[in-house]
Amino acid sequence: MKTMHALITPLKNWIIALYEKHIGIDTPKEPKGRVFFEYAKDMCGYEPSNWLTLKRIDKIIHITPMDTLIDFGSGKGKMVYLAARYPLKKVIGVEISQHLHDIAKKNIAHNQKRFKCKNIQLVNADVLDFVIPDDFTIAYFFNPFLNEIFIRVISNIEASLKKNPRTIWVVYKNPLMKAYLDNCSWLTFVGMHHNIAFYRSTPD
Ligand SMILES: C[S@@+](CC[C@H](N)C(=O)[O-])C[C@H]1O[C@@H](n2cnc3c(N)ncnc32)[C@H](O)[C@@H]1O
Repeated sequence: MKTMHALITPLKNWIIALYEKHIGIDTPKEPKGRVFFEYAKDMCGYEPSNWLTLKRIDKIIHITPMDTLIDFGSGKGKMVYLAARYPLKKVIGVEISQHLHDIAKKNIAHNQKRFKCKNIQLVNADVLDFVIPDDFTIAYFFNPFLNEIFIRVISNIEASLKKNPRTIWVVYKNPLMKAYLDNCSWLTFVGMHHNIAFYRSTPD
């Protein structure tokens, strides 16, 4: 089984790399040991979402054209790219690393013709400096940061809900801070699907 995995993973990565080259997008992890950003405590490094991640999310939350998705820690823009292929109202990616943000900008610029969403915004900022719009409906996290940073972002999301009460989803891939979300009384845990945790805001 281990041998199969050792053979299949490089083959899968090679096929993905070929596909990405074909469509003109660059999203792989940076080579091991390459330093392109000095992450502060509790900030996690870059790894792209899977090509199937958004399909898996849609299966649970049923994305609509009224939705605005924010990817908190958007890296090279893989989730922004995937989300923009849906007819969403708006897709926003917030990324702290200038290097990753610049790659994301190119990835999005090269693929405009593939997008059904025409309102795409890439922001190069620390999430703690990002003002969360009061009308977004899907918050996506792929394990971007932990502890205090995560807690502050979640509390900013709660504040945005208080200002503009609505139903929102918190979608959390590889959810290392799941225990914290489980204790947020304003969120209802809906379930896990392919290591993605789904929470919906609880109406007042
Ligand atoms: C695991 S990657 C996920 C990338 C992207 N969301 C995706 O799904 O393809 C986490 C990203 O969060 C970014 N990040 C970490 N701390 C951050 C912060 N304080 N503000 C904004 N981005 C941050 C990292 O630079 C990295 O690109």
